[in-house]
Amino acid sequence: MPPLSDRLQIASNSVPPGPPAHEATLARRIAELGDWFHNLDLHGVPTAPHHFLGDFPNIKWQHISQAIPEDLTGATVLDIGCNAGFYSLHMKQRGARYVLGVDVDERYLSQARFAAETLDLEIDFQKHSVYDVDEIPGQFDYVLFMGLFYHLRYPLFALDKIIKKVGQRLVFQTMIRGSEEASTWDDDYPFWNKEVFLDSNFPAMYFIEKSYSHDYTNWWIPNRGAVESMLRSSGLEILEHPELETWICAPVNVKRDGRYILDMELDGTL
Ligand SMILES: C[S@@+](CC[C@H](N)C(=O)[O-])C[C@H]1O[C@@H](n2cnc3c(N)ncnc32)[C@H](O)[C@@H]1O
Repeated sequence: MPPLSDRLQIASNSVPPGPPAHEATLARRIAELGDWFHNLDLHGVPTAPHHFLGDFPNIKWQHISQAIPEDLTGATVLDIGCNAGFYSLHMKQRGARYVLGVDVDERYLSQARFAAETLDLEIDFQKHSVYDVDEIPGQFDYVLFMGLFYHLRYPLFALDKIIKKVGQRLVFQTMIRGSEEASTWDDDYPFWNKEVFLDSNFPAMYFIEKSYSHDYTNWWIPNRGAVESMLRSSGLEILEHPELETWICAPVNVKRDGRYILDMELDGTL
């Protein structure tokens, strides 16, 4: 029998320092899946603990979550630009019957599938662009279009396509810059009225020719007036504005003479 001091050494060597084995395995798999944009809590292991926006998007969700029913039993959800699935996971956890998350980036889709599997949630993640969502069959009770609008060169084209998928509610979120105030405007102005365009609340979008926040995929950044007028112009009613960048909308006037605005615009009949 080895002396007591050696036996203590053997005992302490048999328990490796650091987190339990399952946490270490999770952390290794998370790292293997590349850089994460969503900070998910996977059984206590964070996926993006050093996110430049903090605990993202949980900090946003804290303000939005009460504007979405706690109980989504039976609901269907489409999460466009789902990234690693933060919002899809939350909608499924609230009981949604079917959640489809779509994104163009395979890395994010792999992260989302891994997260759903780890949390034992059945969610469908598919590769789709926002520009082809109108080819996905049927409508969804909830459509989430969050954090993508300003990344698009054709933002209103995408919004008008998305409208076709909205059964009950659109949850719309975009970065905004410029005025954060909403004003009311006349239905029309004379051609020589140039002053109205100098009002910083007047609906406007900033075009980013090169890059913003080191991200060359930021193209059009609206002010609040532009967001709200575009939502209305696409036939949506704004029901709630739970935080600065998020609007909950219902489709009320999305067709004219029985046809979607997108189809009329494309064939020149709008
Ligand atoms: C800023 S992230 C927002 C992620 C998430 N929706 C959120 O709000 O946290 C933008 C996401 O949109 C995806 N994306 C970019 N272009 C897209 C497109 N054309 N169609 C669908 N997703 C797109 C990106 O891959 C990325 O996951």
